Amino acid sequence: MAPSSAVAIEEALLAWFDAHRRDLPWRRTKDPYRILVSEFVLQRTRVASGTPYYERFLRRFPDVASLARAPLADVLREWEGLGFYRRARNLHAAAKAIVERHAGQIPSRAADLRELPGVGPYTAGAVASIAFGERVPAVDGNAVRVIARLHRIEQDVSHGPGRARVHALAKDLVPVSRPGAFNQALMELGATVCVPRAPACDRCPLADLCLARAAGIQASLPWAAAPRPVREVPVAFAYAESKGRVLLVHRPEGGLLGGLWSLPGGELDSDDVRASLRGLVHAQTGGRTRIGGPVLSVDHTFSPRIWRGAIYACRFPPGRLARGARWMTPEDARSEPLVPFVRKAIAALAARTTLESFDRRRR
Ligand code: ADE
Repeated sequence: MAPSSAVAIEEALLAWFDAHRRDLPWRRTKDPYRILVSEFVLQRTRVASGTPYYERFLRRFPDVASLARAPLADVLREWEGLGFYRRARNLHAAAKAIVERHAGQIPSRAADLRELPGVGPYTAGAVASIAFGERVPAVDGNAVRVIARLHRIEQDVSHGPGRARVHALAKDLVPVSRPGAFNQALMELGATVCVPRAPACDRCPLADLCLARAAGIQASLPWAAAPRPVREVPVAFAYAESKGRVLLVHRPEGGLLGGLWSLPGGELDSDDVRASLRGLVHAQTGGRTRIGGPVLSVDHTFSPRIWRGAIYACRFPPGRLARGARWMTPEDARSEPLVPFVRKAIAALAARTTLESFDRRRR
């Protein structure tokens, strides 16, 4: 692009951002730790859903030292409900690395940030430009859409050469002055004006510079590979109670919902739900269980899959449990990081069983 249009884009976009930017909590601070946390939260979560978690997380872990010191379970507990728990494990590991390798100071250059766990080119660019003013791009999905339209890129931008082209263009666009504001302005424009299906070109500061709009094809850009189809996966879980305690298992780190506590069970490997659930419970707890009727349904979406099934009342024999399995009172379970639907199930079922035993006692 001719330098004059890069300057025109920069000026129009920054003027628009200064007038229209949303007042978001991480924009009221220069603290690199807070900016780092916001970028981890926003890696896979929209601003509206992520903001309450961001604020709660920072009340609990106000600085890098407090996060590095905390047990992983406490970090996962604060993250519970946000999903994509690998982010929380990475953020915790990044805080430890910052304390151990950088004397508690967040690195200021994107190249050094990239060395931290969970920090890819986007997060490194965002933190380096927003917190430290380094002239590097930070291209999230919203910014990709703006650039693809502005430059009329009629090519799949989700990977390969199309993606590389968008990133090269973004790199050229970032100005020396206010790189962080510029990167946020691109993302903001994509989130609020240059939206996927019906872009509000009448409100866009770049409308006159936009090649897709000049050709009338803005709504059909960017091209992207078809999204992966949502897969429905049958699941079953066991609810076993004994002396006011519920049987829980710790899901392996690194796997799906890793590090969270769950009822025993999971994805079924055959059409015989009971046999399959018995196998899962045995593998996870070491015990052989008798499976009764369903007590609650499970309908849990993590894109691109949906877990559908039920929680079954179970009788579980006394005896030694495998590592990672534990009887917990509902009160103890409440302070652990739990799979979100398991938290709801325990609250509902523990109340129900308490009422049932209460009724039995009265009879
Ligand atoms: N998405 C991720 N980080 C953002 C930021 N700082 N501003 C706007 N959108 C974002």
